[in-house]
Amino acid sequence: MTKRIKRIGVMTSGGDAPGMNAAIRAVVRACAYYRVECVGFMMGFQGMIDGDYIELNARSVRNIINLGGTFLKSARSKEFLTKEGREKAAANMHEANIDAMILIGGDGTFRGGQIFSAEHNIPVIGVPGTIDNDIFGTHYTIGYDTALNTVIDAVDKIRDTASSHNRLFFVEVMGRDAGFIALNSGIGAGAEEILIPEENLGLDRLLNSLERSRRSGKTSSIVIVSEGDKIGKNVFELAAYVKENLPYYDAKVTVLGHIQRGGSPTCFDRVLASRLCVKAVELALDGQHDIMVGMLNNEVQSIELEKALQSKPTINKDLLRISDILSV
Ligand code: F6P
Repeated sequence: MTKRIKRIGVMTSGGDAPGMNAAIRAVVRACAYYRVECVGFMMGFQGMIDGDYIELNARSVRNIINLGGTFLKSARSKEFLTKEGREKAAANMHEANIDAMILIGGDGTFRGGQIFSAEHNIPVIGVPGTIDNDIFGTHYTIGYDTALNTVIDAVDKIRDTASSHNRLFFVEVMGRDAGFIALNSGIGAGAEEILIPEENLGLDRLLNSLERSRRSGKTSSIVIVSEGDKIGKNVFELAAYVKENLPYYDAKVTVLGHIQRGGSPTCFDRVLASRLCVKAVELALDGQHDIMVGMLNNEVQSIELEKALQSKPTINKDLLRISDILSV
């Protein structure tokens, strides 16, 4: 018989993402609704190791749905990678009477959670929160939509100055090893070319495309480059290479960086966080564990953590074709 769940822990881990606060709020409020206790661990796995937690009630999460970042803070704990670190965390979980943990983060968080649950028999449920959108088993991760909107807002501004000065801009966006942010923001911002790790189009093609756009009468252009792009040059080397081969281009570089991780979450991310986290609590109460909740075709679904970690979501290659057509 599964143990009755009376006290649930929640934490945020890995790179923060807009909507994590909305997610914590939803966990805490769902716990209050179902009359179970809720505890928030600070700094992700590190707080579990250090026994650093706070009791949360429905009012502890007032006025945070609109805030970027995570009030429980986040970290990538090195200590949790060790068996000793996880043992300390498990001892603290028992002492704090935690019956199940809800982990909000990306694949690193889920990997840690999976090992922890296997070693110490503490039920964990994952909620995908990362701007990268690189988690299998969900079409959207919390924070991705906000990051996309941040990128297109920034690129719209870059477009103004690119156009005034007849310049070519290379804009680097985040995504570690995944091109989702680059691909979708590239289409949304009307980029000339989009370079992503999943599809190495090669330097020749880039030069040809830029040459063609110059001949077709374009006076300024924007190339979106994913940070994990595999073209063999970083964004600065890429701009230098283009300048060298196409000297008529005045090429500039902007690295958007961590601006993409901040800001007030979009309505989409708030709703996503709310739906995923209510379900996460309900599944925990139902005695389920070692699963991740995800949004597939606008339905909240769950998938075994192991399965979610075995695969990577694929990009929609048709978007590259759309981008090609529209940058004619
Ligand atoms: O995983 C989210 C992410 O923002 C990636 O896009 C990026 O590569 C990485 O985190 C940056 O991590 P950090 O903030 O630790 O430098």
